[in-house]
Amino acid sequence: MNLTLALTGASGAILAREALRALEADARVARVHFVASENSLRVLAEELAISGRNDLLAKLLDAPPSKTIQHPNTDIGAPIASGSYPSNGMIVLPCSMGTLAAIANGLANSLIARAADVTLKERRPLILCVRETPFNRIHLRNMTLAAEAGAVIFPVIPAFYFKPVDSAEMVRQFVCRVLAHIGLPQPGAYIWKPEE
Ligand SMILES: Cc1cc2nc3c(=O)[nH]c(=O)nc-3n(C[C@H](O)[C@H](O)[C@H](O)COP(=O)(O)O)c2cc1C
Repeated sequence: MNLTLALTGASGAILAREALRALEADARVARVHFVASENSLRVLAEELAISGRNDLLAKLLDAPPSKTIQHPNTDIGAPIASGSYPSNGMIVLPCSMGTLAAIANGLANSLIARAADVTLKERRPLILCVRETPFNRIHLRNMTLAAEAGAVIFPVIPAFYFKPVDSAEMVRQFVCRVLAHIGLPQPGAYIWKPEE
């Protein structure tokens, strides 16, 4: 698989870190294209104490990347900006309301918005892990617009039925659900089995 992971300035940078680590470790994945918005850097500093844009992938992975390459969000000439590039889909995790608005309205004004636009026009999976609370009517309308265009709205809402013992398990299980949705079921994913 050849996937794109975009990180935007919504809360939940730890989810993107977990997803990147899972994709790096997954033998079914050949290439990951990673794009971080300018504003995501501020949230990374707040939430994960990661500062600066240099060696961002190595800081997130705690090791040099083996299959992930980072593109500047300004580089609208990156491969993922073209539908001719054979991508298997894109995940925006977490997805801010600003980036949701750009995608839902087809602005294509950054690499993240353009790659999402391309993913939709090529009818490939686009998963938007939106994060905000509460939602205003603009957010709700934009989610509907994006869903009608083919995106999956996959809100950052954790489950509790598997009785997570800590936030790390909540993060892990949320990322497992996202990756399963794009065709990459993960080892250790919780699967609901009601008592018989
Ligand atoms: C610590 C922090 C947390 C934030 N959390 C959210 C959030 O959960 N959802 C959201 O839509 N915006 C959130 N924002 C605001 C966005 O970062 C801001 O709207 C930004 O313009 C989004 O830009 P981007 O979509 O290009 O990354 C947060 C900002 C900061 C500094």
